[in-house]
Amino acid sequence: MTSEKAILIKNLEMHGLKILVLNGSPRPNGNTKKMVNAFAEGARTGGHQVDIVDVCRKRIAGCLGCDHCQKVSEGVCVQRDDMQEIYDLLKEANMLVLASPVYYHSFSGQLKCAIDRTYAIAHPGKLPNLKKAGMILSSGDDDVYEGAIYELNRNFKEFLKLDIDFMKLVAKDVTEETLAEIKEEAFRLKEPVEKKEESGNDN
Ligand SMILES: Cc1cc2nc3c(=O)[nH]c(=O)nc-3n(C[C@H](O)[C@H](O)[C@H](O)COP(=O)(O)O)c2cc1C
Repeated sequence: MTSEKAILIKNLEMHGLKILVLNGSPRPNGNTKKMVNAFAEGARTGGHQVDIVDVCRKRIAGCLGCDHCQKVSEGVCVQRDDMQEIYDLLKEANMLVLASPVYYHSFSGQLKCAIDRTYAIAHPGKLPNLKKAGMILSSGDDDVYEGAIYELNRNFKEFLKLDIDFMKLVAKDVTEETLAEIKEEAFRLKEPVEKKEESGNDN
């Protein structure tokens, strides 16, 4: 086992995952936020550290597409707004969870702005701590998740090579039963991490 991999596994065992949740719902007590809170409670009980950023309460402009971050400033965005907080958390995070109401078959615009702005730092190999992604969606109808799933798979699974380790897609008002399921699944997040990392015999 490489020493870098051994250190990562040791850190995960000792401290759990560092999880960043970007909540894209503007409703402070809406369905998405209830699920985010249940996720955070379960994950924290399971030994993980969870930071929640309510992006709708932040000042986060859309990407300008100037490419300054790529061509000039080595990952530093020219826009100085609340995205700086997310950049700092993202650099430390082992898991990124995107939480959003479904708006017109995808993420809310506020969350999309934050996702687009990760362009400054989120490229293959540039976020060595980040290994996993998850998604929590709330919607009015069933079967309206293809847009967000497509974005998650193409951007985070295929491009950034993250494991998708948590997915909850819930239509209509969230129930206590669903919140209990989310807590339980978030609590168990650690298990697959250890199994997956330890399954290789390259010791
Ligand atoms: C602007 C807007 C667009 C929406 N678009 C969709 C949609 O395309 N499909 C759907 O099933 N629900 C849609 N909804 C309903 C929300 O996804 C649903 O009410 C969700 O539970 C809201 O989550 P929240 O309680 O976290 O705000 C839309 C709601 C709004 C306000």
